[in-house]
Parts: sequence; structure tokens; C-alpha cells
Amino acid sequence: MTEMLEKKNIIMGISGGIAAYKSVELLRLLTKQGADVRVLMTRNACRFVGPLTLEALSGKVVCTHLFQEGENASIGHIEWAKDADAVIIAPATANIIGKMAGGIADDALTTFVLAVTAPILICPSMNTDMYQSPVVQRNLSLLEKDGHIILRPDSGELACGVTGPGRLPDPEQILERLIKAMCPQDLSGKRVMVTAGPTQEPIDPVRFLSNPSSGKMGYAIARAAQRRGALVTLISGLTSLQDPSDVKVIRIQTAAQMASAVFEHFEEMDIIVKSAAVSDYRPEERAGEKIKKDKNEMMLNLVRNQDILAEIGQRKGDRFLVGFAAETEALDQNATKKLRKKNLDMIVGNIVKGEDSAFGSDTNKVSLYYRDGNQEALPMMDKEGLANRLLDRIVERSNK
Ligand code: CTP
Repeated sequence: MTEMLEKKNIIMGISGGIAAYKSVELLRLLTKQGADVRVLMTRNACRFVGPLTLEALSGKVVCTHLFQEGENASIGHIEWAKDADAVIIAPATANIIGKMAGGIADDALTTFVLAVTAPILICPSMNTDMYQSPVVQRNLSLLEKDGHIILRPDSGELACGVTGPGRLPDPEQILERLIKAMCPQDLSGKRVMVTAGPTQEPIDPVRFLSNPSSGKMGYAIARAAQRRGALVTLISGLTSLQDPSDVKVIRIQTAAQMASAVFEHFEEMDIIVKSAAVSDYRPEERAGEKIKKDKNEMMLNLVRNQDILAEIGQRKGDRFLVGFAAETEALDQNATKKLRKKNLDMIVGNIVKGEDSAFGSDTNKVSLYYRDGNQEALPMMDKEGLANRLLDRIVERSNK
């Protein structure tokens, strides 16, 4: 669930392609995210999927005719266009793409799109040869130039038996692209590195030292930065989380592996956010075989791991560097001390003790501390909201 679509007015335009059946699932996903969805269908779309199904799932009248009676009579489509936060056309046939590119408005959907000022996401889906034809490609480039967003079709076996590009992407992918279209692109082209999750320091082949970090905060930051236009590299310890879309994910186990991955990519970054919970120590030796319980007591010798953040703090140049401070007491003092010691631009401090502990939870309550001495206490927020708030501050401060 993402709060991005909560109460947003989304218009779904469906044209007459075989993939129209997928729009039913897409509609279900959108309403599950709290969006208010209205559906417009072309006459041919109604031959592939019944308006009644879409009416039942959206809870609203589906518009199929320009001069439809009832709710949509007369200037209904202009009202819808005015209120729309975003529009998705899925599937978009060669015909609707051609009409949109040529400014033709001869039915409810094409008339409606002309009046829209919100972002329009067009999802072409058709036979491969049709899709690759010069005229369809030319029309798509025209629409792109006009500021519309084109989600290129997937390749695969199509209903017509041909294998190639033309398949409508999965509803989840369409949803992700829609969310991106609705986000400010204030990190456009910026290279952002995020570290996330715990590291594990092996004791023997079946045991390790670690911590309860779930990685949720770092993944939320990586996902939000990607949606805001950044090119994101996520360096992650072991988590059960799904890779965020269109993010380069590098998986590591130990702090030493995280350090090499960070140092390898650090130079090309503009912004670095180190939310990983890195083990400060590792066992001096790693047993080759499972350690047997043949003694009543055992000693484990630990040696220090390199402090990755402190190291990149020394070499940061004009990169914007953000650290996290997980504390159980004296948050202000400990966080500001780390900020200075590690030469950071900003540190996110949180208390990891008691009921409000951020570890593993979907929410987090943090305070932000800046290089110039300012600080800001944020209320309890979900990690997605917090990720966006942190990025707001990073954008403001790195543009200064
Ligand atoms: N960090 C790091 N490398 C380490 C340890 C920590 O890069 N070996 C980073 C974390 O990713 C985090 C920040 O340093 O952004 C602070 O981590 P934290 O564990 O709170 O602080 P430490 O510096 O390890 O200090 P201490 O454990 O003494 O509180």
C-alpha cells in the first residue's frame, strides 16, 4: 500500500485490444491503493470486457459514449478532465494512439484526453508488426514530445501467436509507472546510493552476528528516490523485501562486502544515504566447520569493522552525505557527535528501544540534524512518508 494514490482522481481509459482484460486487475489494484477511479471505454473495448464489471469494481458509472445520458451528460468529460490527477490509457491500441497524436476527438475517450492537463500515461499493446510500424512509432514519438508518458510494451508471446514487443506490462508495473508520473521529478538525473538492512558476520558456516534491521527504511528511500527521477543504487544486506523497480540492487552479507560495494560506486554518486545497520565488529576467525558444543563456556574474539560512513565522510567532496544514528539514549548528543565526527551533511536520529523502536516496524519517529547546527523533530510517520520527507530535505539542502 502506498499513500501516493490515496483519494487521487485517476481516470482509466480502455481501448479495444485483447489486453483489455488486464485493465480489470489494474482497476482493482488502483482502488486497493485508495484511488478514486473512473473508467472511460471505447466502443470496441466494450467487446473485450463488460462495462458492468468495471462499474462494479470502480463503484462508478462507466462512460462509453460521448452523449451518454445521466451522470456524464453534456460536459461530463470536461468535468472529469478538470478533476483528474492522472490518466492511464491501457491498453492503448494503434487506433487510439493515432487519434491522440492527430488531435482527433470523435468519441468520449479521445474528446476527454484533449481536455486533460494532468499527466497521461499511455500503455500501447498490439501485434508486434503493428507496434513496430513506422506510423505507430512516429505517433508515439509525437505523443512523447507533447509531454505524454509512454510505457513501452513487454516482449513475449502475444495472443496472435507472434513473439515480440506488444504485450501490455503487468498491472503492478503500470501502477509503479503511474506513481512515478505523479511524483515531482526533483531528483531527475541525480545518482543516489542507499545502503540498507543488516550486515551478517559469520562465526561458522551456520551462525553469524547480526541485528534486527529489516531494511524497510532504506528500501523506502531507494524506491522514493527512483520515483523522483534519481538513478538509484541500493546496497543491501539480507532482507525479505522485494527489489524496488528500476533500482540497481547489490546484495552483500558482511560489513567488508558492503564497504567494497560502497567504495566501488561512491565516486559517481551525488547523494549517499547510509541507512544500513552495519556490524561494528566481526569474529576474528571464521570456523571452517560448525562449532560443536564441547565446552561449557566459549570466548569469541571480535575485531573492529571499518566505519564505512566515516571513511566516505573523509572523501565526500561536494556529495551530499546522510547517516543514520540508532540510539537507545541521549539522542541529540549522540547524533550530533556522529554528524561531526563522520563529516555528514545530515543525520537521521532515532531511538531504537521500547515500543516505538524503528527496527522491523512500518513506522518511524526521527529527528533530523544538519551540518549548520539546525535540527528538526518529525512526528511518527510511515516509512514511505518519511522517505519522501527526507528526500525533500536532501533536495532543499543540496541545492543550497
Ligand atoms: N556505519 C558504517 N559503518 C560501520 C558502522 C556504522 O557506515 N562500520 C554507519 C551506519 O550505516 C549509520 C551510521 O554509521 O549511517 C551510524 O551507525 P551507528 O551504529 O548508529 O553508529 P556507530 O558509528 O556505529 O556508533 P556506535 O555504535 O558507537 O553508536
